[in-house]
Amino acid sequence: MDFYKIKGGKKLNGEVAVSGAKNAALPIIVASLLADGETVLSNVPNLMDIKTITRVIECLGAETDYDAEKNVLRIRVENLRCAEVPYDLVKTMRASVYVMGPMLARLGIADVSLPGGCAIGERPIDIHLAGFEALGAEIDIEHGNVVARARKMRGANFIMKKVSVGATVNLMMAAVLAEGETVLENCAMEPDVVDLGRFLVKMGAKINGFGTERIVIQGVKKLSPASYSIMPDRIEAGTYLLAGAITRGDVKVNRMEPDHIGALRETLGEMGFRIENGKDWTRIIPATKLTGAYIKTLPYPGFPTDLQAPLMSLLTTVPGISVISETIFENRFTHVGELRRMGASIDVEGNMAIIKGVKRLSSAPVMMSDLRAGAALVLAALAAKGTTEIRRIYHSDRGYEKLTEKLLGLGADIERVKGGTF
Ligand code: UD1
Repeated sequence: MDFYKIKGGKKLNGEVAVSGAKNAALPIIVASLLADGETVLSNVPNLMDIKTITRVIECLGAETDYDAEKNVLRIRVENLRCAEVPYDLVKTMRASVYVMGPMLARLGIADVSLPGGCAIGERPIDIHLAGFEALGAEIDIEHGNVVARARKMRGANFIMKKVSVGATVNLMMAAVLAEGETVLENCAMEPDVVDLGRFLVKMGAKINGFGTERIVIQGVKKLSPASYSIMPDRIEAGTYLLAGAITRGDVKVNRMEPDHIGALRETLGEMGFRIENGKDWTRIIPATKLTGAYIKTLPYPGFPTDLQAPLMSLLTTVPGISVISETIFENRFTHVGELRRMGASIDVEGNMAIIKGVKRLSSAPVMMSDLRAGAALVLAALAAKGTTEIRRIYHSDRGYEKLTEKLLGLGADIERVKGGTF
């Protein structure tokens, strides 16, 4: 297995361009199943999770052709069929359950291995399933699979008991072809939901209110395939700003939407960093005096849980006390033990992490436990004294396109070493 070797202490400087958003691309790729014909998606990042979701839709009869150089994915749907989406795909990527919405909408049946718990928490899909039931489906758990069947999907009013990105996108896809009107309440307002909404509208769906708490869908009889360009990845953009911050460098992040990372920009500003923005870029400029931060992860537009671990790495290097309260996932502090190995001072009490800034992190052999925890370790290594080896980097391969190249472009001393012992 490959690993990263990072020599810390170099200030990152320069410009970096953000790739297409993984979390927007996943539901949009799946939504292509809603229409027969050819869908052409551009700005699709070349990532493991994208490969996994294309395998998932191929199981269901789609044909795909990905041009990794141009980031263009062509999807042809002609003979959509109900087939089991197997455990080996679902266990590597939970977003595989997104196919339930389109499958119910088009064929009235979906059969997907039920995802179990994962590294960051229990992550049930009960809200997705309750929503399908409200739209007329019957749900059974059979031999580890969740099987949903519906004679006819009918519009309904459904209030999500908790804000869920996955349930919101899955139910939008289930409802676009249902008979009559569907009103979804307490919806996730993440930009990824909005990107899916725009794509569905381009396919001919009648949807209003995506990007707000209340989404109203008038079912239509048929959708048509569409061409669409995936929005930029706000979590990747935030990660590079944090890479600039932790090395006290001057980094301009291009091809992004500054509005999508408002909560991060605000936090960095309050800490003392100077932030400049243009239409599609944000720049972080080093500060002379920094203070700690208190942040709470929340659904959008609050501080994103996906930037909690990378922000924590920064906070370990900032004088004074910082507090992070994680309210989205119950077990999202797996990076803490690894950061402590690098000299960080962090106490965890329930869902709170109390961080006392240290003068300098120091290198240590560490392991990624999930995608964003992995990003946190890369950032910590960029700032640490000495050379850090990071293992299990297949986690960051899931969500960061050309990570090594982009960091090298900013002047980092990073090497991806082929092969390794574990
Ligand atoms: C998505 C993102 C992930 C991000 C998360 C929160 C994708 C592919 N992944 O994950 O990167 O960290 O949003 O912004 O877009 N919940 C339930 N029942 C459900 C569904 C969710 O209890 O049926 C809970 C979850 O356990 C969690 C919370 O709701 O505590 C939010 O989860 P959700 O927004 O659904 O996250 P994902 O869509 O899985």
